[in-house]
Formats: sequence, C-alpha cells, structure tokens
Amino acid sequence: MTFENAPKPRPFWVAGSPRGGESTLDVHHPYDGTDVATVSVPSPRDVEDAVAAAAAVAREFRSTPAHVRAAALSHVSATLAARAEEIAETITAENGKPLKWAEIEVTRAVSTFRFAAEEARRFSGSLQRLDTDPNGEGRMAVILRRPRGPVLAVAPFNFPLNLVAHKVAPAIAVGAPVIVKPASATPLSALLLGEILAETDLPAGAFSVLPVRGRDMSAMVTDPRLPVISFTGSTSVGWGLMDAAPRKHVVMELGSNSAAIICPDWTDFGFAAKRIATFGNYQAGQSCIAVQRVIVHRDAADAFLPELVSAVEALGVGDPHDPAVDVGPLIDADNAERVASWIAEAVDGGARVLTGGERSGTSITPCVLADVPPTASVCREEVFGPVLVVSVVDSVDEAFELANATDYGLQAGVFTRDVRVAFRAAAELEVGGVVVGDVPSYRADQMPYGGVKGSGTGREGVLSAMVDFTEEQTVVLSGLTL
Ligand code: SIN
Repeated sequence: MTFENAPKPRPFWVAGSPRGGESTLDVHHPYDGTDVATVSVPSPRDVEDAVAAAAAVAREFRSTPAHVRAAALSHVSATLAARAEEIAETITAENGKPLKWAEIEVTRAVSTFRFAAEEARRFSGSLQRLDTDPNGEGRMAVILRRPRGPVLAVAPFNFPLNLVAHKVAPAIAVGAPVIVKPASATPLSALLLGEILAETDLPAGAFSVLPVRGRDMSAMVTDPRLPVISFTGSTSVGWGLMDAAPRKHVVMELGSNSAAIICPDWTDFGFAAKRIATFGNYQAGQSCIAVQRVIVHRDAADAFLPELVSAVEALGVGDPHDPAVDVGPLIDADNAERVASWIAEAVDGGARVLTGGERSGTSITPCVLADVPPTASVCREEVFGPVLVVSVVDSVDEAFELANATDYGLQAGVFTRDVRVAFRAAAELEVGGVVVGDVPSYRADQMPYGGVKGSGTGREGVLSAMVDFTEEQTVVLSGLTL
C-alpha cells in the first residue's frame, strides 16, 4: 500500500485486526496545514476490546517460543526497510521533520526491531548457586524474567515511528501484549506499524494501535489489566500519569533542556559548532535531547561563538520536503507561538539575539541567544524549539554547576579530550547519559536511554526496556550434585 492509496479513513488496530470507528480525526501537515489523512478514532467499546484481548492473550503470549517472537520482529524490521521511502514520507507529512531526518528515523526503527529480534533470542535469565551457605547445599537458583503484563505504550509526536518502536519491539521480544496510544498529531506511522505487525504470526491480542485522544486515555491508564505504562512525552503529562496510576510500573521518558559543554582543552571548534548547530535545530529542536544550553569556557568563547553563529546561519529553513532544508516547522502554530514568546521574554530580560528567532507561521528561524537571565523560560524549561542559549563560564566547575542548575537530567554533551574531565563529568553531572566529545543528542538505539530528576524514571534502549517490562522469577532446584 502507498501513502496515496491507503484506506480513507485509516483504520485502527484492535487485537491485530483493522477496525473503523464512527468518529475521525484529521491529520494536518505542520508546514502548510494541508490535509494529510483522516483517521478512525476508537470508541470506548473498541478500547475495551483491545484491553480485554491483551489480558486474555498475556499467558499464551509470554509462553510463545523465542524464535516465533524473533521472527515477527525480524519481519517488521525487514518490511520497514523495504518500505522505507513511503514510511519516511508519512513521517514528514504528519510530523513536518525534513525528509532526510525522517529517512534516518526509519533506518533507526529498522535497527530497533532488529536489535529486539536479536535480544529475544538471547534473553535467558541467569543462574545463582546457593551452596554458598550450609542451608543451600545441593541447590541452585534459576532466575527467569517474566513479563509484568500487558503494556500501555503512550508515544509522542517527535519520533512517530522510532519512539513507538522503542515500546513495541521490547514488549514483543519478552512476550508482553502491547497497546499503543500514538500522539493525536502523528498517528499515521504507528498505524502503519500496526499494518506490518498484522502480517506476522503473533497471537491476536498481542498488539493494538488505538489513536484515541489524550483526554480519552484515562480508562486505560487506570485499568489494572494494563499493569505497565511506558510513556514518552511532556513532563506534566508524565507525572500526571504516575499520580493517576500509583500502583503501576511506569516508565517515563520526559523532557529536558540538555547542555553541551565546551571545555578549555577542546580545540576543534568547527566540529563542535557544526554538531551543536545541527543538533540544537534538528527536527526544529523537537527532541528531548536536542542541545538547548551551550556552556562554553571563556578561553574557547572568542573562537567558538562566531563559528557557532555561522554554522546556525548555514542551516536551510523551510519546506521539509526540500532536500536542502535542515530545519522544518514546529508541530503546530501554538508551539511556534510559545517558542516565539519565550524568545521575546528572554530579550525583554536583557538577552542578546546573536541570530534568528523570527517566526513565520509554524516555522522559527534557528536562534542563538546570549546573556540570557537564568530565570527566563528558555533557560529553565524545555524549549522544544530551534533555540540555543549560550553561557560563558570561567571554569569546568562552573560549567558543571550550571549544567546541573535545572530540574531536568536526561543527557549532557561534554567536548573534552581529557579523560579525567570526562570521568569527572560522569561523576558530577546529574543526567542519565554523558556523551564525551559530542552533543547530548547522540543516541544509539541499543544503549540504555533515560533521565534522572524531572526527566523521568526507568530506561529505554531495547535490552533495558526488556528488563524493565519483566520481573525476576526465582526457581530453586534442590538435590543437585554441583
Ligand atoms: C527523545 O526525544 O527522547 C528521543 C530522542 C531520540 O531517540 O533520538
């Protein structure tokens, strides 16, 4: 099926089968507001059917042989690769990210499912000998990992395919049924994933894709038949979910205002400037690990800052289908307006605009701000827009202190070649991940990924999520000759 000849309205997926609903939601292109697709919206009855099917199949699914789950995951990986062009176009149409970034997202999702297929075959538990004490003689513990139960996967708009993949693939790998609630602005990639999953031999009920509106999600959030919630999205919604379901196992990947630190030993300013310009503005800054705060040592500032400004000015801005464009629109006009108002607030507080910051419709030209008061929203909050805030400091101590002066803690980038500074950064920075010699935006899909402080709890990354979606079960064997 291609983008053009997809059914209208697009069906959702309940227990592996397509369904239409009475009501619909329209998906608009963030760049020019054109209609992209109409999607059927599940009714409360459809939601109940999906939840009941997930609960009913949980025992059977967790007992499926690893090779069956691995084969399904491999099929998804191969099909995403085969349909990469169409899927990238879908991502750009619903999310507005430049096509070249959408293509990267598809490539990443291909890997995410491939890693999950590999891990499904390896995921075996462990052995622990118990004869370390007299009462354990002749005994051995086999420690298995069992799924905690069906997973409610709530995904954001900024990676409409790969952040869905990061929930669906590990759930299937461990044999946990999964119900996906995609972002209302970007349901198409998740529905497409549903179509590909429906081609596999997974048991009915192993997956559903329900594009319900956020306000209609609460029944699933509190439903005890879905004991695990995996959420990626805004901080306020995330902590709200946790409050609404205090007895559930909740994994949350929330926001951040990530820092890139230029240490005094760093000399390759061209590289650092290009990486920070690119990763402060990729997807128009709409990534939880986009660079937002740039903390530069005074010894490096005079050489580095002009390079940063010219790297930012070299970025192409505009229609995301144009291959020359690096920075597309924000997801909608409300968010563009919010970012513009935060820039204005910083300027009113004394900030200098080194470049950019003009709004046109849903687009904002990449902006670099200096001398920003620390109380400004662009410093304190997650901008989720193409804005870099530069601060000049006099020592590495001051740089780390400033990087930690936030409620968030997802990842930090530390430009240093000094291994002692790198280890200090890891010890002192309050973040879930430190990237040495590059931007905080670096993410490999197999590595653990997640935050501390207000940036969430739990870890994604295929194996980490598989561990997270399961709990240990200990089987003690007795009367053994060891
Ligand atoms: C996120 O925005 O949290 C995901 C970033 C990524 O996967 O690269």
